[in-house]
Amino acid sequence: MRLHVADHPLIAHKLTVLRDVRTPSPIFRQLTEELVTLLAYEATRDIRTESVEIDTPVAHAMGTALAEPRPIVVPILRAGLGMLEGMTRLLPTAEVGFLGLQRNEETLEAITYANRLPDDLTGRQCFVIDPMLATGGTLVASIEYLFERGARDVICVTLLAAPEGLRTVQDAIGDRADVTIVTAAVDDHLNEKGYIIPGLGDAGDRLYGVV
Ligand code: URA
Repeated sequence: MRLHVADHPLIAHKLTVLRDVRTPSPIFRQLTEELVTLLAYEATRDIRTESVEIDTPVAHAMGTALAEPRPIVVPILRAGLGMLEGMTRLLPTAEVGFLGLQRNEETLEAITYANRLPDDLTGRQCFVIDPMLATGGTLVASIEYLFERGARDVICVTLLAAPEGLRTVQDAIGDRADVTIVTAAVDDHLNEKGYIIPGLGDAGDRLYGVV
């Protein structure tokens, strides 16, 4: 597993406003999109491309285009949806799949309750989007799900990560495949309720209100 903490003053600024408890949902949503677009720029550094021949108005030239098969963006429901617009702004031709995972409160295992993904992800670059890498349970289950369908190149984009969650992903995935985590910051720790500290609270609630 590789970790990339996106270090940029605009990212730090927008993240600070997101963290602020006084920031209302509409601003939170807009800032999340902006922040994700900046993170998407970092996350797509190794996106697969191919050489193409084109004609400019004055010459024949070689250029670069995204390779086939197209990358797939996978928001983890529900909070990952708040990151989709920011991601597809930079990757408008990406396919979008969906994955809904919920924790079984008895076994604490993540179970899939919704899935809209191709059965075969062989050779596809998958961009998993989920704002908070807290315990890491959901992210590990998502990555395993994509592996089962043949994916071997997974880039996870999160707003925040906790050291505990990063360790969980590292322990579960090891060097089995090409997994990269791109995040705006690694925070201090998780509290006893599984919230990232200092964090930004419940990302889903702050995006969509408490439902
Ligand atoms: N999920 C959230 O939305 N916030 C946290 O702090 C941890 C998990």
